[in-house]
Amino acid sequence: MRKANIAILGATGVVGREITKIVDELGIEFNEIKFLSSAKSAGKKIDFQGKTYIVEEAKPESFDNVNIVLASAGAATSKLFAPEIVKRGGVLIDNSSAFRMEDDVPLVIAYVNDEDLKKHKGIIANPNCSTSQLMLVLKPLIDKVKMKRLIVSTYQAVSGAGLAAINELTENTKARLAGETFDNKCFKKPIAFNVIPQIDVFLDNGYTKEEMKVVNETRKILHLPEDLPISCTAARVPVYNGHSEAVDIEFEEEITPEEVREILKNSFGIKVIDSPQNYEYPTTYDASGVNPVFVGRIRKNLAFNNGISLWCVADNLRIGAALNTVRICQKVLEMDLF
Ligand SMILES: NC(=O)c1ccc[n+]([C@@H]2O[C@H](COP(=O)([O-])OP(=O)(O)OC[C@H]3O[C@@H](n4cnc5c(N)ncnc54)[C@H](OP(=O)(O)O)[C@@H]3O)[C@@H](O)[C@H]2O)c1
Repeated sequence: MRKANIAILGATGVVGREITKIVDELGIEFNEIKFLSSAKSAGKKIDFQGKTYIVEEAKPESFDNVNIVLASAGAATSKLFAPEIVKRGGVLIDNSSAFRMEDDVPLVIAYVNDEDLKKHKGIIANPNCSTSQLMLVLKPLIDKVKMKRLIVSTYQAVSGAGLAAINELTENTKARLAGETFDNKCFKKPIAFNVIPQIDVFLDNGYTKEEMKVVNETRKILHLPEDLPISCTAARVPVYNGHSEAVDIEFEEEITPEEVREILKNSFGIKVIDSPQNYEYPTTYDASGVNPVFVGRIRKNLAFNNGISLWCVADNLRIGAALNTVRICQKVLEMDLF
């Protein structure tokens, strides 16, 4: 297998730090690695595999001789540097929403639609965090029985909104407990002891952009028909890390909770914790810091014909971003696509 020169763009951010850890955990072999940020963090030190690296400010020349760029520096930065990376023959694996819905950009969850990677033209997109964990759960089920309808409600952690949002939860909580006023900046409402039914901006159809990302990205990744009904409600909750989702699926034919449990127990990247009578079901405490998507509360849905309801929890920084990015990198190396 050929080795690549790798750059981590946004290395000082929440996702970038996780990417760095996972490159090590998955044993990604490389010739050279470099860590890039904005001018703000340039000069900071990163200790990685026994060596100290100096973070560099990302500039077009930073991508000379770089084969694979793992980017988590926001959509504007990705749009700025994508042409520079591609022009130099590199492959951009991008965490932002900049290119996800473009026709010639594969949107990939590793182990779900790896074949789509072969169609890349220099840019590969990593899905939104709430979509990501759902794909690993849905794919093995719809391989067995076709899906007819999907309703997802998300309970999303603040880490999904970056470092500043994590700090805002801490500071807002302290202020609230001390009876002090607090000026929220990252969220439209106070996040401490609250649930906010808005992630990203509202669109003309009354859904938020985050909710429509789940709808559109799910269709693209799973190659679903345009008219298959999907609906999502996304809420921000005062949890540091780990997204939870209540998922209701209507299938074309009957599938029992026992069958679903059995399929998921044997599926890649899934861990089933499902014994409610013993209070065993997944929470973000199980999922934060580890790789599996946890599934529980698998039961027959009472509102749909052939319906199943389940609860799924995952580390949004891992499967929702960094882990999938590095897994895609692993596939690009294995499939020799750079
Ligand atoms: N958090 C999640 O769960 C999640 C999930 C999926 C996707 N994403 C996406 O991943 C991206 C980063 O998210 P995050 O949560 O890690 O944000 P973050 O903690 O705010 O980190 C942002 C990173 O981007 C760098 N950066 C900003 N502007 C730059 C520029 N002009 N040139 C080079 N580097 C620049 C920052 O460098 P400085 O340190 O110099 O500011 C920092 O390293 C976003 O696009 C986000 O939508 C996040």
